Amino acid sequence: MAVKAAKTKASVPTRKPAAGSGLRGAEAERGHDIHDLGLAEGGRRRIEWADGQMPVLRRVRETFIREQPLKGMTLAACLHVTCETANLLRALKAGGAQVVCCASNPLSTQDDVAAALVKEYEIATFAIRGEDRDTYYSHMRSVLKHHPSITMDDGADLVNLLHTEFAAQASEVAASMEETTTGVIRLRAMEQDEALRIPVVSVNDAQTKHLFDNRYGTGQSTMEGVIRATGVLIAGSVVVVGGYGWCGRGVSSRARGLGANVVVTEVNPVRALEAAMDGYQVMPMEDAAKIGDLFITVTGDKQVINADHFVLMKDGAILANSGHFDVEIDIAALKKMAKKVEPGVTRNVDAYHLPSGRRLYLLGEGRLVNLACAEGHPAQVMDMSFATQALTARWAANRKSRLEVRVHNVPLEIEDEVARFKLAAMGIKIDTLTEEQRKYLTSWESGT
Ligand SMILES: NC(=O)c1ccc[n+]([C@@H]2O[C@H](COP(=O)([O-])OP(=O)(O)OC[C@H]3O[C@@H](n4cnc5c(N)ncnc54)[C@H](O)[C@@H]3O)[C@@H](O)[C@H]2O)c1
Repeated sequence: MAVKAAKTKASVPTRKPAAGSGLRGAEAERGHDIHDLGLAEGGRRRIEWADGQMPVLRRVRETFIREQPLKGMTLAACLHVTCETANLLRALKAGGAQVVCCASNPLSTQDDVAAALVKEYEIATFAIRGEDRDTYYSHMRSVLKHHPSITMDDGADLVNLLHTEFAAQASEVAASMEETTTGVIRLRAMEQDEALRIPVVSVNDAQTKHLFDNRYGTGQSTMEGVIRATGVLIAGSVVVVGGYGWCGRGVSSRARGLGANVVVTEVNPVRALEAAMDGYQVMPMEDAAKIGDLFITVTGDKQVINADHFVLMKDGAILANSGHFDVEIDIAALKKMAKKVEPGVTRNVDAYHLPSGRRLYLLGEGRLVNLACAEGHPAQVMDMSFATQALTARWAANRKSRLEVRVHNVPLEIEDEVARFKLAAMGIKIDTLTEEQRKYLTSWESGT
């Protein structure tokens, strides 16, 4: 599957602060560091459009306006700066919190949304699409300098800083919410090593999050990212999906829906079996590498596609990652192998020319393809994830004493509330248990 000839814009270049601009100091004093305030009006319009598709979060916002559950708190969010996130931040602000935010990935920020957050919603924002690593971390520091009492992470980078450079502030944080699988893995590892100093809540593990966001959100937006970047026809192609977790199931089913022959690679025997029974071909990456037209990793693991696989791939194979960090495709090895790297053959696509003459195309620099090459999940799905986030923030903030320092689950009442609101918004009614049924389902006496 070849990518069309180069004629459009190059990949997003890494943005560094202008020399001598004193950006970090001056902008931080102004309470923001964004690309261009002039984009605010467009950003506001897109935020409002997304708001129209987020009825549960809207309802939470209305309740927050009345009840002011976050009054007096400072809330720091390190999330993908998208329209949907903007609506979460609006809800938190409406609840009385002072809200500051930065990006959870250098390539996922929507600059118009960042501008609108500052100008239209007066939310201190530190995020520029394509920011370099130093700027990415300086933005996180700017956010932490506000001394948050509640934090939200997507990948646990903020919590990580609160355990290193900003460790003196860890005791000020009542709780931190984690949005994604990779972040939860890091937090559980910290808990296991007895290194955790902040109570955290695994929002990712709420059913109202991963069942819908990871599966349907990642499934659809990943394919959208690939299609927007390359324009290739998916029907009839071989799409190799690395990992059959919540996201992998979604990506596989959407790729199949578009007519692809889907191959799944796994390391977990149960998940591999599930993929086989769902009707996909399952094989090791070494075998899949030879036949794939498009490869999508979504495992949360490193080097899922590596040098051993690059040498086996067909000319024109496309490589994309939708897992949290840019480690799933071994880009360093690919760079080392390539005799030439041609950036921006089409927007967000870099060509790697191998010594054999074959070309491999990497999308979005190996960063989350759905955010680097498209706008991330649809608002309807983020409605549930972010309503769960907001209600969990209220739950953590309203406690008389600090939560125990460990990884907590989202209370089931919150999941039920979010699911009920969403059903109501979709106009769907369900049955309720009769008293007799409730008793039957909680008893052990009756049998055959
Ligand atoms: N792109 C997005 O917007 C988005 C959204 C949600 C989650 N994520 C990220 O996607 C990743 C996966 O999340 P998930 O919820 O599906 O996790 P999950 O734990 O449900 O699934 C991951 C799967 O990958 C498999 N795996 C691990 N190493 C592998 C390897 N070397 N080869 C093949 N399979 C391997 C695991 O066995 C598991 O089945 C995480 O990094 C998560 O943070 C991204």
